[in-house]
Amino acid sequence: MKGIILSGGTATRLFPLTATTSKQLLPVYDRQMIFYPLNTLIKAGIRDILIIVAPEHSGQYLNLLGSIFKNHGVNIYFEVQKTPRGLADAFIMGENFINKDNVAMILGDNIFEDDLNESISNFSKGGMVFAKEVPDPERFGVVDFDESGKALTIEEKPKNPKSNYAVTGLYVYDNRVVEIAKNLKPSVRGEIEITDINNEYLKLGELIVNKINGVWLDAGTHDALLEASNIVKEKGISQNFHPIINEAIEEFDLRLKNLAKATLEAHNLILRK
Ligand code: G1P
Repeated sequence: MKGIILSGGTATRLFPLTATTSKQLLPVYDRQMIFYPLNTLIKAGIRDILIIVAPEHSGQYLNLLGSIFKNHGVNIYFEVQKTPRGLADAFIMGENFINKDNVAMILGDNIFEDDLNESISNFSKGGMVFAKEVPDPERFGVVDFDESGKALTIEEKPKNPKSNYAVTGLYVYDNRVVEIAKNLKPSVRGEIEITDINNEYLKLGELIVNKINGVWLDAGTHDALLEASNIVKEKGISQNFHPIINEAIEEFDLRLKNLAKATLEAHNLILRK
């Protein structure tokens, strides 16, 4: 299975923080936000990951993630998205990368406490979404499902939600998703909607819902970002990253320290001359 992290967009709700960097590179406690969705995919056994980024931040992503996993069996690829066209665009942009495989797509600002390895590795066909019970479902995509986990209805930000279950920003699909995405028409807000992809799979009777038991956070506002840092610290979410991520970060850290040391030594040498 391939993985895609959608990390484009302008995140105007987080201005002025996002005037200088991408939202998904902002810190959540002791790590950049992007490491949380990376961790979710890597823990699920995914080793080929495409990160979709905005042009103005592509250099920063390359600096941080361009070579960090190269000794750790994880391949990171980048695509630059000039203008955000909706979440479903990830599958059109990622067509060549996805190739003949299935794909898990995660939003770059979504933080999951649960290890979702079991549901993702057992996936074989159709579509799979992850639902979390929330007090304010009208803010999200909302899914209603039966006891077996089969989705019955799925609606984007409904005024009268049919359940309290929000659709979180992690989606797993079989290879048909690319053709489905290509045939979507933009919604009233001018975007091609992930909810329309989900509805296609629902019509086929092939949309499965998994409940999220642990913490699920998206960090879209200043308050949500602060809360995310506090909860991540309290629950030890970043302490519990997959060893691949921890080792890669340690190595990266060491590389930066050595670089700083070498620069300082070179500088001193020049001064002494
Ligand atoms: C998007 C999806 C929505 C989902 C949410 C999860 O909403 O359209 O279905 O519940 O992500 O974070 P957006 O954040 O684009 O408003």
